[in-house]
Amino acid sequence: MRKSIILYLNGKMIELGESDSFMSLSNYLRYQKNLTGTKVTCSEGDCGACTVLVSRFDGKKMGQIQAINSCISFMYLFDRCHLITVEGLKKLDHLHPAQKTMIKHHGAQCGYCTPGMICALAAMTEDAKNNVIKIDNKKVKNYLTGNLCRCTGYEPIIKAGLSIDINDVKKFSDIYDQKEMISKYSNLIFDDVKLSHKDQEVYLPASYESLYKNADIKNTKIVSGATDLGVFVNKNKIQLKKVISLNNILESYKIQNLDDKIVIGAKASLTDIEKACKKDFPEFSKSLHIFASPQIKNIGTLVGNLVNASPISDTAAFLRVSNSKVILNNSKTERSIFINDFFLKSYKKLDINSDEIVTHIIIPKEKIKFKLYKISTRKDLDISSVNMAIAYKLDNKIFTSFKLCVGGVGPTTLRLTSIEKEVIGKAIDQKIFKKIAKMAILQIKPLSDVRGEGSYRKILVHNLLLKFCDEVILDNKINVNEISI
Ligand SMILES: Cc1cc2nc3c(=O)[nH]c(=O)nc-3n(C[C@H](O)[C@H](O)[C@H](O)COP(=O)(O)OP(=O)(O)OC[C@H]3O[C@@H](n4cnc5c(N)ncnc54)[C@H](O)[C@@H]3O)c2cc1C
Ligand code: FES
Ligand code: FES
Repeated sequence: MRKSIILYLNGKMIELGESDSFMSLSNYLRYQKNLTGTKVTCSEGDCGACTVLVSRFDGKKMGQIQAINSCISFMYLFDRCHLITVEGLKKLDHLHPAQKTMIKHHGAQCGYCTPGMICALAAMTEDAKNNVIKIDNKKVKNYLTGNLCRCTGYEPIIKAGLSIDINDVKKFSDIYDQKEMISKYSNLIFDDVKLSHKDQEVYLPASYESLYKNADIKNTKIVSGATDLGVFVNKNKIQLKKVISLNNILESYKIQNLDDKIVIGAKASLTDIEKACKKDFPEFSKSLHIFASPQIKNIGTLVGNLVNASPISDTAAFLRVSNSKVILNNSKTERSIFINDFFLKSYKKLDINSDEIVTHIIIPKEKIKFKLYKISTRKDLDISSVNMAIAYKLDNKIFTSFKLCVGGVGPTTLRLTSIEKEVIGKAIDQKIFKKIAKMAILQIKPLSDVRGEGSYRKILVHNLLLKFCDEVILDNKINVNEISI
Protein backbone atom coordinates (compact mmCIF):
# COMPACT_ATOMS: atom_id res chain seq x y z
CA MET A 1 0.00 0.00 0.00
CA ARG A 2 1.57 3.30 -1.12
CA LYS A 3 1.24 6.19 1.32
CA SER A 4 1.97 9.10 -0.99
CA ILE A 5 0.62 10.82 -4.09
CA ILE A 6 3.02 10.88 -7.02
CA LEU A 7 2.57 13.38 -9.82
CA TYR A 8 4.46 15.71 -12.13
CA LEU A 9 4.05 19.45 -11.79
CA ASN A 10 5.33 21.54 -14.69
CA GLY A 11 7.57 18.65 -15.72
CA LYS A 12 9.05 17.87 -12.29
CA MET A 13 8.12 14.82 -10.27
CA ILE A 14 6.81 15.42 -6.79
CA GLU A 15 5.76 13.04 -4.07
CA LEU A 16 3.17 14.41 -1.69
CA GLY A 17 3.04 13.52 1.95
CA GLU A 18 -0.16 12.92 3.77
CA SER A 19 -1.04 16.49 4.78
CA ASP A 20 -0.48 18.08 1.33
CA SER A 21 -2.52 15.35 -0.37
CA PHE A 22 -5.74 16.63 1.21
CA MET A 23 -5.26 20.27 0.17
CA SER A 24 -7.26 21.80 -2.65
CA LEU A 25 -5.19 21.96 -5.82
CA SER A 26 -5.30 25.78 -5.92
CA ASN A 27 -4.18 26.12 -2.27
CA TYR A 28 -1.38 23.64 -2.81
CA LEU A 29 -0.11 25.55 -5.86
CA ARG A 30 -0.36 28.96 -4.25
CA TYR A 31 0.72 28.25 -0.67
CA GLN A 32 3.05 25.24 -0.93
CA LYS A 33 4.62 25.94 -4.31
CA ASN A 34 4.33 29.74 -4.58
CA LEU A 35 2.77 29.29 -8.01
CA THR A 36 0.55 32.31 -7.45
CA GLY A 37 -0.20 32.80 -11.15
CA THR A 38 -3.19 30.56 -10.44
CA LYS A 39 -5.81 32.89 -8.97
CA VAL A 40 -8.83 32.09 -6.83
CA THR A 41 -11.85 34.34 -6.91
CA CYS A 42 -15.16 32.42 -6.72
CA SER A 43 -14.03 29.08 -5.19
CA GLU A 44 -16.99 27.33 -6.78
CA GLY A 45 -15.94 26.40 -10.29
CA ASP A 46 -17.75 29.31 -11.92
CA CYS A 47 -15.18 31.92 -12.94
CA GLY A 48 -12.21 29.95 -14.30
CA ALA A 49 -9.55 32.19 -12.68
CA CYS A 50 -8.02 29.06 -11.14
CA THR A 51 -7.79 27.11 -14.43
CA VAL A 52 -4.81 24.77 -14.80
CA LEU A 53 -4.07 21.98 -17.26
CA VAL A 54 -3.98 18.28 -16.50
CA SER A 55 -3.07 15.13 -18.34
CA ARG A 56 -3.74 11.72 -16.77
CA PHE A 57 -1.77 8.49 -17.36
CA ASP A 58 -4.11 6.08 -19.17
CA GLY A 59 -2.11 2.89 -18.59
CA LYS A 60 0.04 3.29 -21.72
CA LYS A 61 0.55 6.98 -22.39
CA MET A 62 -0.24 10.41 -21.01
CA GLY A 63 -3.82 11.35 -21.93
CA GLN A 64 -5.09 14.52 -23.59
CA ILE A 65 -4.17 17.81 -21.86
CA GLN A 66 -7.34 19.41 -20.54
CA ALA A 67 -8.34 22.49 -18.58
CA ILE A 68 -9.84 22.07 -15.10
CA ASN A 69 -10.73 24.33 -12.18
CA SER A 70 -8.17 23.90 -9.39
CA CYS A 71 -10.25 25.53 -6.62
CA ILE A 72 -12.72 22.64 -6.34
CA SER A 73 -10.22 19.78 -6.76
CA PHE A 74 -8.14 17.92 -4.20
CA MET A 75 -4.50 16.90 -4.57
CA TYR A 76 -5.25 13.20 -4.01
CA LEU A 77 -7.22 13.24 -7.28
CA PHE A 78 -4.01 13.83 -9.28
CA ASP A 79 -1.97 10.72 -8.54
CA ARG A 80 -0.33 9.63 -11.86
CA CYS A 81 -1.06 12.97 -13.56
CA HIS A 82 0.90 15.82 -15.10
CA LEU A 83 -0.26 19.24 -13.95
CA ILE A 84 0.71 22.35 -15.89
CA THR A 85 0.10 25.78 -14.40
CA VAL A 86 0.31 29.16 -16.14
CA GLU A 87 3.94 29.35 -14.99
CA GLY A 88 4.61 26.06 -16.77
CA LEU A 89 3.39 27.26 -20.16
CA LYS A 90 6.51 29.22 -20.95
CA LYS A 91 9.66 27.29 -21.54
CA LEU A 92 13.21 28.69 -21.71
CA ASP A 93 11.83 32.22 -21.47
CA HIS A 94 9.78 31.89 -24.62
CA LEU A 95 6.19 32.86 -23.89
CA HIS A 96 3.50 30.42 -24.97
CA PRO A 97 1.61 31.74 -28.06
CA ALA A 98 -1.51 32.06 -25.85
CA GLN A 99 0.46 34.44 -23.59
CA LYS A 100 1.96 36.41 -26.49
CA THR A 101 -1.40 36.92 -28.15
CA MET A 102 -3.05 38.18 -24.94
CA ILE A 103 -0.31 40.80 -24.59
CA LYS A 104 -0.54 41.83 -28.24
CA HIS A 105 -4.33 42.20 -28.20
CA HIS A 106 -4.59 43.84 -24.75
CA GLY A 107 -6.56 40.92 -23.37
CA ALA A 108 -5.96 41.85 -19.72
CA GLN A 109 -6.93 44.75 -17.51
CA CYS A 110 -6.98 43.90 -13.79
CA GLY A 111 -5.48 40.52 -14.65
CA TYR A 112 -7.36 38.31 -12.21
CA CYS A 113 -9.01 36.28 -14.93
CA THR A 114 -5.98 36.37 -17.23
CA PRO A 115 -3.94 33.31 -16.17
CA GLY A 116 -7.08 31.17 -16.32
CA MET A 117 -7.96 32.57 -19.75
CA ILE A 118 -4.45 31.80 -20.96
CA CYS A 119 -4.62 28.22 -19.68
CA ALA A 120 -8.01 27.73 -21.37
CA LEU A 121 -6.56 29.11 -24.64
CA ALA A 122 -3.48 26.90 -24.26
CA ALA A 123 -5.79 23.86 -24.00
CA MET A 124 -7.45 25.04 -27.22
CA THR A 125 -4.13 25.42 -29.05
CA GLU A 126 -3.10 21.93 -27.91
CA ASP A 127 -6.31 20.46 -29.39
CA ALA A 128 -5.77 22.46 -32.59
CA LYS A 129 -2.18 21.25 -32.83
CA ASN A 130 -3.43 17.65 -32.41
CA ASN A 131 -6.03 18.27 -35.17
CA VAL A 132 -8.90 17.70 -32.76
CA ILE A 133 -10.36 21.13 -33.67
CA LYS A 134 -9.84 24.08 -36.01
CA ILE A 135 -9.72 27.44 -34.27
CA ASP A 136 -12.57 29.76 -35.21
CA ASN A 137 -14.79 32.28 -33.43
CA LYS A 138 -17.15 29.61 -32.11
CA LYS A 139 -14.34 27.41 -30.83
CA VAL A 140 -12.59 30.30 -29.05
CA LYS A 141 -15.87 31.15 -27.31
CA ASN A 142 -16.49 27.46 -26.45
CA TYR A 143 -13.07 27.03 -24.86
CA LEU A 144 -13.57 30.25 -22.88
CA THR A 145 -17.10 29.37 -21.67
CA GLY A 146 -15.78 28.67 -18.18
CA ASN A 147 -13.76 31.88 -17.88
CA LEU A 148 -15.40 35.08 -16.71
CA CYS A 149 -13.82 38.46 -17.27
CA ARG A 150 -15.40 41.52 -15.71
CA CYS A 151 -13.08 44.12 -17.27
CA THR A 152 -12.35 43.61 -20.92
CA GLY A 153 -15.74 43.09 -22.50
CA TYR A 154 -14.19 39.97 -24.02
CA GLU A 155 -13.56 41.43 -27.48
CA PRO A 156 -9.79 41.69 -27.09
CA ILE A 157 -9.69 38.18 -25.60
CA ILE A 158 -11.65 36.65 -28.47
CA LYS A 159 -9.39 38.51 -30.94
CA ALA A 160 -6.37 37.19 -29.06
CA GLY A 161 -7.67 33.62 -29.29
CA LEU A 162 -8.44 33.97 -32.99
CA SER A 163 -5.02 35.30 -33.88
CA ILE A 164 -2.93 32.56 -32.30
CA ASP A 165 -0.45 31.36 -34.87
CA ILE A 166 -0.75 27.60 -34.66
CA ASN A 167 2.63 27.15 -36.39
CA ASP A 168 4.17 28.89 -33.40
CA VAL A 169 2.59 26.36 -30.99
CA LYS A 170 4.61 23.48 -29.61
CA LYS A 171 2.75 20.47 -28.29
CA PHE A 172 3.15 19.95 -24.55
CA SER A 173 4.53 16.49 -25.32
CA ASP A 174 7.38 18.30 -27.13
CA ILE A 175 7.84 20.83 -24.34
CA TYR A 176 7.85 18.22 -21.57
CA ASP A 177 9.55 14.89 -21.96
CA GLN A 178 6.81 12.37 -21.24
CA LYS A 179 9.03 9.28 -21.45
CA GLU A 180 10.10 9.63 -17.85
CA MET A 181 6.49 10.12 -16.65
CA ILE A 182 5.24 7.13 -18.60
CA SER A 183 8.00 4.89 -17.33
CA LYS A 184 7.47 6.07 -13.73
CA TYR A 185 3.69 5.69 -13.88
CA SER A 186 3.82 2.28 -15.61
CA ASN A 187 5.46 0.99 -12.43
CA LEU A 188 2.67 2.40 -10.27
CA ILE A 189 -0.44 0.99 -11.96
CA PHE A 190 -0.89 -1.85 -9.49
CA ASP A 191 -0.38 0.37 -6.43
CA ASP A 192 -3.25 0.79 -4.03
CA VAL A 193 -2.87 4.15 -2.30
CA LYS A 194 -4.10 4.96 1.18
CA LEU A 195 -3.47 8.21 3.01
CA SER A 196 -4.66 9.70 6.24
CA HIS A 197 -4.12 13.04 7.88
CA LYS A 198 -5.78 14.06 11.16
CA ASP A 199 -9.41 12.96 10.77
CA GLN A 200 -9.24 12.59 6.96
CA GLU A 201 -8.62 9.39 5.03
CA VAL A 202 -8.57 8.58 1.32
CA TYR A 203 -8.27 5.24 -0.44
CA LEU A 204 -7.40 5.02 -4.14
CA PRO A 205 -7.68 1.36 -5.17
CA ALA A 206 -5.88 0.28 -8.34
CA SER A 207 -8.78 -2.01 -9.34
CA TYR A 208 -12.38 -2.83 -8.49
CA GLU A 209 -11.10 -6.12 -7.00
CA SER A 210 -8.93 -4.19 -4.52
CA LEU A 211 -11.81 -1.87 -3.74
CA TYR A 212 -14.25 -4.69 -2.92
CA LYS A 213 -11.60 -6.56 -0.96
CA ASN A 214 -10.20 -3.71 1.12
CA ALA A 215 -12.76 -0.94 1.46
CA ASP A 216 -15.59 -0.35 3.86
CA ILE A 217 -17.80 1.43 1.31
CA LYS A 218 -20.60 1.83 3.87
CA ASN A 219 -18.73 4.39 5.91
CA THR A 220 -17.09 6.36 3.12
CA LYS A 221 -17.93 8.94 0.48
CA ILE A 222 -17.05 8.34 -3.17
CA VAL A 223 -15.33 11.40 -4.68
CA SER A 224 -15.33 11.41 -8.46
CA GLY A 225 -14.61 14.67 -10.32
CA ALA A 226 -15.55 16.65 -7.18
CA THR A 227 -17.34 19.31 -9.23
CA ASP A 228 -20.30 18.99 -6.88
CA LEU A 229 -18.47 17.84 -3.76
CA GLY A 230 -15.64 20.40 -4.09
CA VAL A 231 -18.18 23.23 -4.12
CA PHE A 232 -19.99 21.78 -1.07
CA VAL A 233 -16.65 21.55 0.79
CA ASN A 234 -15.67 25.14 -0.09
CA LYS A 235 -19.07 26.42 1.02
CA ASN A 236 -18.74 24.45 4.30
CA LYS A 237 -21.79 22.36 3.52
CA ILE A 238 -19.97 19.05 4.04
CA GLN A 239 -16.69 17.76 5.37
CA LEU A 240 -15.11 14.89 3.50
CA LYS A 241 -13.57 12.62 6.12
CA LYS A 242 -13.38 9.05 4.82
CA VAL A 243 -13.14 9.07 1.06
CA ILE A 244 -12.76 6.58 -1.79
CA SER A 245 -11.75 7.69 -5.27
CA LEU A 246 -11.97 5.44 -8.33
CA ASN A 247 -9.40 7.68 -10.10
CA ASN A 248 -6.71 4.99 -10.33
CA ILE A 249 -9.05 2.27 -11.66
CA LEU A 250 -8.21 2.45 -15.36
CA GLU A 251 -11.22 0.46 -16.54
CA SER A 252 -13.60 2.93 -14.84
CA TYR A 253 -12.83 5.55 -17.55
CA LYS A 254 -14.00 3.29 -20.40
CA ILE A 255 -16.92 4.08 -22.69
CA GLN A 256 -17.96 1.08 -24.80
CA ASN A 257 -19.97 1.87 -27.91
CA LEU A 258 -21.65 -1.46 -28.74
CA ASP A 259 -24.24 -2.35 -31.38
CA ASP A 260 -27.18 -2.14 -29.00
CA LYS A 261 -25.97 0.13 -26.21
CA ILE A 262 -23.40 2.57 -24.90
CA VAL A 263 -21.81 1.45 -21.62
CA ILE A 264 -20.36 4.34 -19.64
CA GLY A 265 -17.84 3.75 -16.85
CA ALA A 266 -18.12 5.58 -13.52
CA LYS A 267 -15.10 7.81 -14.23
CA ALA A 268 -15.83 8.64 -17.89
CA SER A 269 -15.83 12.42 -18.17
CA LEU A 270 -18.79 14.39 -19.48
CA THR A 271 -16.50 15.68 -22.26
CA ASP A 272 -15.79 12.12 -23.45
CA ILE A 273 -19.47 11.17 -23.14
CA GLU A 274 -20.50 14.20 -25.21
CA LYS A 275 -18.20 12.92 -28.00
CA ALA A 276 -19.20 9.25 -27.62
CA CYS A 277 -22.95 10.01 -27.86
CA LYS A 278 -22.71 12.31 -30.88
CA LYS A 279 -23.79 9.71 -33.45
CA ASP A 280 -26.41 7.65 -31.60
CA PHE A 281 -27.78 10.24 -29.18
CA PRO A 282 -27.18 13.60 -30.91
CA GLU A 283 -29.75 15.43 -28.74
CA PHE A 284 -28.07 14.20 -25.55
CA SER A 285 -24.66 15.13 -26.92
CA LYS A 286 -25.96 18.63 -27.81
CA SER A 287 -27.38 19.03 -24.31
CA LEU A 288 -23.97 18.13 -22.87
CA HIS A 289 -22.42 20.77 -25.12
CA ILE A 290 -24.15 23.50 -23.10
CA PHE A 291 -23.69 21.68 -19.78
CA ALA A 292 -21.40 23.70 -17.48
CA SER A 293 -17.98 24.59 -18.96
CA PRO A 294 -15.07 22.60 -20.44
CA GLN A 295 -13.24 22.85 -17.09
CA ILE A 296 -16.17 21.13 -15.31
CA LYS A 297 -16.94 18.58 -18.04
CA ASN A 298 -13.30 17.53 -18.42
CA ILE A 299 -13.34 16.10 -14.90
CA GLY A 300 -17.03 15.84 -13.91
CA THR A 301 -18.82 12.56 -14.57
CA LEU A 302 -22.28 11.38 -15.62
CA VAL A 303 -22.34 9.04 -12.63
CA GLY A 304 -21.59 11.97 -10.29
CA ASN A 305 -24.42 13.95 -11.87
CA LEU A 306 -26.81 11.02 -11.47
CA VAL A 307 -25.91 10.25 -7.84
CA ASN A 308 -25.91 13.92 -6.86
CA ALA A 309 -29.60 13.58 -7.77
CA SER A 310 -30.31 17.26 -8.14
CA PRO A 311 -33.93 17.91 -9.24
CA ILE A 312 -32.44 20.21 -11.86
CA SER A 313 -29.76 17.79 -13.12
CA ASP A 314 -29.32 18.19 -16.86
CA THR A 315 -28.89 14.49 -17.52
CA ALA A 316 -31.45 12.83 -15.22
CA ALA A 317 -34.50 13.63 -17.37
CA PHE A 318 -32.87 12.07 -20.46
CA LEU A 319 -31.67 9.02 -18.51
CA ARG A 320 -35.20 8.50 -17.14
CA VAL A 321 -36.96 8.51 -20.51
CA SER A 322 -34.33 6.54 -22.46
CA ASN A 323 -34.69 3.20 -20.59
CA SER A 324 -31.14 3.69 -19.33
CA LYS A 325 -29.91 1.49 -16.52
CA VAL A 326 -27.53 1.99 -13.63
CA ILE A 327 -25.23 -0.82 -12.49
CA LEU A 328 -24.61 -0.95 -8.76
CA ASN A 329 -22.05 -3.09 -7.02
CA ASN A 330 -20.95 -4.03 -3.55
CA SER A 331 -18.36 -6.65 -2.73
CA LYS A 332 -20.89 -9.47 -3.18
CA THR A 333 -23.56 -8.63 -5.74
CA GLU A 334 -24.28 -6.57 -8.80
CA ARG A 335 -27.66 -4.93 -9.38
CA SER A 336 -28.97 -3.44 -12.59
CA ILE A 337 -31.97 -1.15 -12.37
CA PHE A 338 -33.77 1.25 -14.67
CA ILE A 339 -32.71 4.79 -13.87
CA ASN A 340 -36.37 5.75 -13.82
CA ASP A 341 -36.77 3.46 -10.79
CA PHE A 342 -33.46 4.57 -9.28
CA PHE A 343 -35.08 7.90 -8.35
CA LEU A 344 -37.32 7.62 -5.32
CA LYS A 345 -40.01 10.19 -4.72
CA SER A 346 -38.35 12.54 -2.21
CA TYR A 347 -35.51 15.05 -2.53
CA LYS A 348 -32.15 13.40 -3.38
CA LYS A 349 -33.41 9.92 -2.40
CA LEU A 350 -32.11 7.10 -4.60
CA ASP A 351 -32.38 3.32 -4.62
CA ILE A 352 -28.73 2.84 -3.62
CA ASN A 353 -27.57 0.97 -0.52
CA SER A 354 -24.86 2.45 1.66
CA ASP A 355 -22.43 -0.35 0.70
CA GLU A 356 -22.95 0.08 -3.05
CA ILE A 357 -21.13 2.09 -5.67
CA VAL A 358 -22.19 2.85 -9.20
CA THR A 359 -19.87 1.24 -11.74
CA HIS A 360 -21.68 1.88 -15.03
CA ILE A 361 -24.55 3.58 -16.79
CA ILE A 362 -26.02 1.81 -19.82
CA ILE A 363 -27.92 3.72 -22.49
CA PRO A 364 -29.73 1.31 -24.83
CA LYS A 365 -29.87 2.07 -28.55
CA GLU A 366 -33.57 1.77 -29.31
CA LYS A 367 -35.60 3.16 -32.17
CA ILE A 368 -36.80 6.11 -30.11
CA LYS A 369 -36.54 9.79 -30.91
CA PHE A 370 -35.67 12.39 -28.32
CA LYS A 371 -36.28 16.07 -27.75
CA LEU A 372 -34.36 17.66 -24.88
CA TYR A 373 -34.85 21.21 -23.64
CA LYS A 374 -32.93 23.36 -21.18
CA ILE A 375 -34.08 26.83 -20.14
CA SER A 376 -31.58 28.86 -18.17
CA THR A 377 -30.90 32.55 -17.66
CA ARG A 378 -27.67 32.25 -19.65
CA LYS A 379 -27.17 29.67 -22.41
CA ASP A 380 -23.72 28.52 -21.29
CA LEU A 381 -22.43 27.65 -17.83
CA ASP A 382 -25.76 28.06 -16.12
CA ILE A 383 -27.97 25.79 -14.06
CA SER A 384 -31.40 25.19 -15.64
CA SER A 385 -34.55 26.91 -14.45
CA VAL A 386 -36.47 24.06 -16.08
CA ASN A 387 -35.40 21.18 -18.27
CA MET A 388 -37.44 18.58 -20.11
CA ALA A 389 -36.81 15.29 -21.92
CA ILE A 390 -39.29 13.59 -24.23
CA ALA A 391 -38.74 10.16 -25.81
CA TYR A 392 -41.27 9.29 -28.48
CA LYS A 393 -42.14 7.04 -31.39
CA LEU A 394 -44.44 8.18 -34.19
CA ASP A 395 -46.01 5.65 -36.51
CA ASN A 396 -47.94 7.23 -39.35
CA LYS A 397 -48.49 10.38 -37.25
CA ILE A 398 -49.71 8.32 -34.26
CA PHE A 399 -47.71 8.32 -31.00
CA THR A 400 -46.94 4.68 -30.25
CA SER A 401 -44.66 5.67 -27.39
CA PHE A 402 -44.37 8.90 -25.38
CA LYS A 403 -42.27 9.43 -22.24
CA LEU A 404 -42.00 12.78 -20.52
CA CYS A 405 -39.70 13.88 -17.70
CA VAL A 406 -39.34 17.40 -16.33
CA GLY A 407 -36.64 18.89 -14.06
CA GLY A 408 -36.79 21.95 -11.82
CA VAL A 409 -40.44 21.62 -10.90
CA GLY A 410 -40.40 19.46 -7.76
CA PRO A 411 -38.17 17.65 -5.26
CA THR A 412 -36.89 15.29 -7.98
CA THR A 413 -37.03 15.21 -11.74
CA LEU A 414 -40.63 14.13 -12.46
CA ARG A 415 -42.07 11.60 -14.91
CA LEU A 416 -45.57 12.87 -15.83
CA THR A 417 -47.12 9.46 -16.52
CA SER A 418 -50.78 10.54 -16.73
CA ILE A 419 -49.80 12.89 -19.54
CA GLU A 420 -47.86 10.14 -21.26
CA LYS A 421 -51.00 7.97 -21.24
CA GLU A 422 -53.05 10.86 -22.64
CA VAL A 423 -50.76 11.13 -25.69
CA ILE A 424 -50.08 7.47 -26.54
CA GLY A 425 -52.32 6.19 -29.34
CA LYS A 426 -53.24 9.70 -30.50
CA ALA A 427 -52.26 11.45 -33.72
CA ILE A 428 -49.97 14.43 -33.33
CA ASP A 429 -52.14 17.48 -32.95
CA GLN A 430 -51.73 20.97 -31.49
CA LYS A 431 -55.13 20.68 -29.73
CA ILE A 432 -53.97 17.65 -27.75
CA PHE A 433 -50.76 19.38 -26.78
CA LYS A 434 -52.67 22.48 -25.67
CA LYS A 435 -54.75 20.16 -23.46
CA ILE A 436 -51.80 18.29 -21.94
CA ALA A 437 -49.83 21.52 -21.45
CA LYS A 438 -52.71 22.72 -19.23
CA MET A 439 -52.79 19.34 -17.45
CA ALA A 440 -49.03 19.51 -16.82
CA ILE A 441 -49.15 22.82 -14.99
CA LEU A 442 -51.75 21.41 -12.60
CA GLN A 443 -49.49 18.46 -11.79
CA ILE A 444 -46.32 20.34 -10.85
CA LYS A 445 -45.53 22.47 -7.82
CA PRO A 446 -42.30 24.28 -8.66
CA LEU A 447 -40.58 26.35 -5.99
CA SER A 448 -39.66 30.00 -6.47
CA ASP A 449 -35.96 30.74 -6.17
CA VAL A 450 -33.20 32.80 -7.80
CA ARG A 451 -33.60 30.85 -11.03
CA GLY A 452 -37.28 31.67 -11.44
CA GLU A 453 -40.67 32.09 -9.83
CA GLY A 454 -42.82 28.96 -9.56
CA SER A 455 -45.39 30.57 -11.88
CA TYR A 456 -42.67 31.25 -14.47
CA ARG A 457 -41.55 27.62 -14.34
CA LYS A 458 -45.13 26.49 -14.94
CA ILE A 459 -45.33 28.69 -18.03
CA LEU A 460 -42.04 27.20 -19.25
CA VAL A 461 -43.34 23.63 -18.95
CA HIS A 462 -46.59 24.61 -20.69
CA ASN A 463 -44.78 26.32 -23.56
CA LEU A 464 -42.13 23.62 -24.00
CA LEU A 465 -44.87 21.05 -24.61
CA LEU A 466 -46.36 23.27 -27.33
CA LYS A 467 -42.88 23.82 -28.76
CA PHE A 468 -42.31 20.06 -28.85
CA CYS A 469 -45.52 19.56 -30.83
CA ASP A 470 -44.63 22.27 -33.36
CA GLU A 471 -41.09 20.96 -33.77
CA VAL A 472 -42.22 17.37 -34.39
CA ILE A 473 -44.77 18.60 -36.96
CA LEU A 474 -42.03 20.55 -38.72
CA ASP A 475 -39.36 17.81 -38.43
CA ASN A 476 -41.70 15.24 -39.95
CA LYS A 477 -43.15 17.67 -42.52
CA ILE A 478 -46.63 16.78 -41.28
CA ASN A 479 -49.51 18.61 -42.93
CA VAL A 480 -51.67 19.50 -39.91
CA ASN A 481 -54.77 19.96 -42.08
CA GLU A 482 -54.63 16.30 -43.09
CA ILE A 483 -54.73 14.97 -39.54
CA SER A 484 -58.08 13.43 -38.68
CA ILE A 485 -58.93 14.03 -35.03
C1 LIG B 1 -19.69 25.74 -12.29
C2 LIG B 1 -20.54 24.52 -12.31
C3 LIG B 1 -21.45 24.34 -13.33
C4 LIG B 1 -22.28 23.22 -13.36
N1 LIG B 1 -23.18 23.11 -14.37
C5 LIG B 1 -24.03 22.06 -14.37
C6 LIG B 1 -25.01 21.97 -15.40
O1 LIG B 1 -25.07 22.78 -16.34
N2 LIG B 1 -25.90 20.94 -15.31
C7 LIG B 1 -25.87 20.03 -14.30
O2 LIG B 1 -26.71 19.13 -14.28
N3 LIG B 1 -24.90 20.07 -13.35
C8 LIG B 1 -24.00 21.07 -13.35
N4 LIG B 1 -23.04 21.13 -12.37
C9 LIG B 1 -22.95 20.10 -11.34
C10 LIG B 1 -21.81 19.03 -11.52
O3 LIG B 1 -20.81 19.48 -12.36
C11 LIG B 1 -22.35 17.72 -12.06
O4 LIG B 1 -23.34 17.23 -11.18
C12 LIG B 1 -21.25 16.64 -12.29
O5 LIG B 1 -21.75 15.74 -13.22
C13 LIG B 1 -20.85 15.92 -11.00
O6 LIG B 1 -19.90 14.91 -11.33
P1 LIG B 1 -18.59 14.70 -10.45
O7 LIG B 1 -17.86 13.54 -11.02
O8 LIG B 1 -17.83 15.95 -10.31
O9 LIG B 1 -19.26 14.29 -9.03
P2 LIG B 1 -18.72 14.45 -7.55
O10 LIG B 1 -18.82 15.87 -7.11
O11 LIG B 1 -17.41 13.80 -7.37
O12 LIG B 1 -19.83 13.55 -6.80
C14 LIG B 1 -21.21 13.89 -6.84
C15 LIG B 1 -21.99 12.84 -6.05
O13 LIG B 1 -21.93 11.59 -6.70
C16 LIG B 1 -21.44 10.59 -5.81
N5 LIG B 1 -20.67 9.64 -6.61
C17 LIG B 1 -19.75 9.93 -7.57
N6 LIG B 1 -19.32 8.80 -8.15
C18 LIG B 1 -19.98 7.77 -7.56
C19 LIG B 1 -19.97 6.35 -7.75
N7 LIG B 1 -19.19 5.76 -8.66
N8 LIG B 1 -20.80 5.60 -6.98
C20 LIG B 1 -21.60 6.18 -6.04
N9 LIG B 1 -21.65 7.52 -5.84
C21 LIG B 1 -20.85 8.30 -6.58
C22 LIG B 1 -20.59 11.34 -4.79
O14 LIG B 1 -20.44 10.62 -3.59
C23 LIG B 1 -21.43 12.60 -4.63
O15 LIG B 1 -22.49 12.37 -3.76
C24 LIG B 1 -22.18 22.24 -12.33
C25 LIG B 1 -21.22 22.40 -11.31
C26 LIG B 1 -20.41 23.52 -11.30
C27 LIG B 1 -19.40 23.68 -10.21
S1 FES C 1 -11.80 30.39 -8.47
FE1 FES C 1 -13.53 30.61 -9.75
S2 FES C 1 -13.53 28.72 -10.80
FE2 FES C 1 -12.03 28.45 -9.33
S1 FES D 1 -9.03 41.52 -16.76
FE1 FES D 1 -10.15 41.96 -14.96
S2 FES D 1 -11.49 40.29 -14.74
FE2 FES D 1 -10.59 40.00 -16.66
